[in-house]
Amino acid sequence: HQKGRLVVVSNRVGPLTDEGKAGGLAVGLADALKRRGGLWFGWSGETSEEGTFSEEKTEVFGGTAMTTIDMTEEELEGFYHGYANRSLWPLLHYRLDLVQFDRQSDRVYRSVNQRFAARLAPLVTDDDLVWVHDYHFFYLGSDLRRCGYKGRLGFFLHIPFASPEIFMALPGAHDLVHSMLAYDLIGFQTRQDRRNFVNFCIHELGGHKLPGDRIEVGGRIVQASVFPIGIDAEGFARFAVSPEAGEHEEMLRDLARGRLQIVGVDRLDYSKGLVERLLGFERLLEDFPDNRGGVNFLQIAPLSRSELDAYIDLRAELEGLAGRLNGRFATLDWTPIQIMTTGFTRRALAGIYRAARVCMVTPLRDGMNLVAKEFVAAQDPTDPGVLILSRFAGARAELMDALIVNPYATDEVARALQRALTMPLAERQERHQAMREKVFHGTAAHWCESFLTALESAEPEARLPA
Ligand code: G6P
Repeated sequence: HQKGRLVVVSNRVGPLTDEGKAGGLAVGLADALKRRGGLWFGWSGETSEEGTFSEEKTEVFGGTAMTTIDMTEEELEGFYHGYANRSLWPLLHYRLDLVQFDRQSDRVYRSVNQRFAARLAPLVTDDDLVWVHDYHFFYLGSDLRRCGYKGRLGFFLHIPFASPEIFMALPGAHDLVHSMLAYDLIGFQTRQDRRNFVNFCIHELGGHKLPGDRIEVGGRIVQASVFPIGIDAEGFARFAVSPEAGEHEEMLRDLARGRLQIVGVDRLDYSKGLVERLLGFERLLEDFPDNRGGVNFLQIAPLSRSELDAYIDLRAELEGLAGRLNGRFATLDWTPIQIMTTGFTRRALAGIYRAARVCMVTPLRDGMNLVAKEFVAAQDPTDPGVLILSRFAGARAELMDALIVNPYATDEVARALQRALTMPLAERQERHQAMREKVFHGTAAHWCESFLTALESAEPEARLPA
């Protein structure tokens, strides 16, 4: 049958090409949209006097039109820096210690959601599939309904949904979840995230479970399901053997001069467990001193949200720690840790992954983490590297053949590193093979198709019979 046009809404839009792209959302969506085509609507990345009233800009790439509008400085501050990244991001990553609430940001966040809905409304018809993404736009669905949209409306949360005990700390938590019920289908990365959301609906909003992943709250029926996001595994594996990847792989191997390479690749974000990771590496050098002079740790950490205090503080802390560790262990011909804030193209990253014996993906909380999947896809199956993966990353549900660690447990991280660095080839191959199957099966395309198939069969604005 004729499928509706896909309309994707997210704060960040594009790029669809292989530019330095940080963040799982951009990676997953670009892969999905490249295949299916449609409209991608969101923020231009720019501020102007007119803000969300600015004229829309459209760029067309293959079958995808990317349409964006600006924000004013004030909108950007309240919506993005304020509510999204000072309130929701730490809250949903279980960091009440970092959460800041203020009513001005809350107001601006809601009004920016309304403004984006108002601008989107004339661009869609009820035959389209509208799919809204991530914590920037929780309210947008209910706003779009108020603008008269009657078609299918889905939402996917790329980051964790915190347990109700934590989530309840948000002033207006009830409002926010109530507004989410305007979506016909709500997708989460893991069963845990889904369960947290459903429990909030049941215990805080008086909802009930229904068969088939559905819940009923106040007569309204919505489906809440799990769709773990993936990557374009074949595409990334091809990147890994491209000339650009080869150059980077070779450069890193030359620089390592026979030492084993450990890498980490993360936006510089407190959810990523970077401090704990460095402490784990320090413990390795303390407890397994044979590694001194024999391993290089490269952390690639592109700057992110660097206007916010929590990120400024983290950067200073990390740089201090890396400096201290290097000062403590370095010799004339060996510097144990290198931290870079430069971004790389995805091809270059693929080459870097291939040169690594170990990749550390040790977030304190992470919705999914696509670096883990990219690392697996980039490996040479005959001589693969080892993945060390946090039990608090969504990717853990699929990548159980990684070395799973509690990132807070420094000794455990150090032991996992030692085990990874000394793992026999046969075990590396076996673990890699098992993970490779998961990564090549649960692709971005698969994620997109499963979500859209579920959305197509959802009934828009379903209600209990009176
Ligand atoms: C995470 C979020 C995305 C976000 C990305 C980069 O992956 O889920 O929504 O785009 O981080 O963060 P930024 O604030 O730069 O968009």
